[in-house]
Amino acid sequence: MSKLKIAVQKSGRLNEDSMKILKEIGISVDNGKDQLKASARNFPLEVFYLRNGDIPQYLRDGVVDAAIIGENVLIEKGNDLKIVERLGFSKCKVSIAVPKSSKAKSLKDLDGKRIATSYPNTVNQFLEKAGLKANLHIINGSVEIAPNIGLADGICDIVSSGSTLFKNGLKEIEVLLKSEAVLATSPMISEENQALIDKLQFRLKSVLKGRE
Ligand code: PRP
Ligand code: MG
Repeated sequence: MSKLKIAVQKSGRLNEDSMKILKEIGISVDNGKDQLKASARNFPLEVFYLRNGDIPQYLRDGVVDAAIIGENVLIEKGNDLKIVERLGFSKCKVSIAVPKSSKAKSLKDLDGKRIATSYPNTVNQFLEKAGLKANLHIINGSVEIAPNIGLADGICDIVSSGSTLFKNGLKEIEVLLKSEAVLATSPMISEENQALIDKLQFRLKSVLKGRE
């Protein structure tokens, strides 16, 4: 019998809520933290614990059939992939921020300036749309430190509580997009596994309705 392969974030903010919603739809997995793969006991499903940024490619290649992933990651790296359900948790923004002392009031004011980010495609989309140009410094984490060490005039990163911005003396000046966790599927998914996704989606809808 075919098994559905679903990717969830290995560690980080999405992991816990992803496992929680799976549990709420009746999927119980043995949660060995260093195991990168776990089988469900009561549904033909395997969970793959992967790095966020790698998930879009795994979906594209059909290595996994589906994923619970931040919409922001899909917008950055998987614009071609299909969102089948919005999950309503892990809400965040992808925003432009600058030092508190900066005069910049929007992305427009960073025209010709340096922006540090882990979301180059997203920033480029917005720059292009607005007819602007900026020098992007791509860094993978701790982006908020960049202005303080003289690496950038502004940043683009995820804002959730806002505490990282605050602690680094930055202020949000423009929200590029709002994001939440979503269920996305692979273009390569088999009919059999699509039927399993449909089953899960049906359960998800009722759990999400109950959360409203
Ligand atoms: C994420 C994100 C922001 C921060 C936002 O970083 O990149 O820096 O969380 O959350 P907040 O608004 O609640 O402070 P994370 O802590 O995951 O580390 P990383 O950037 O080094 O990956
Ligand atoms: Mg960060």
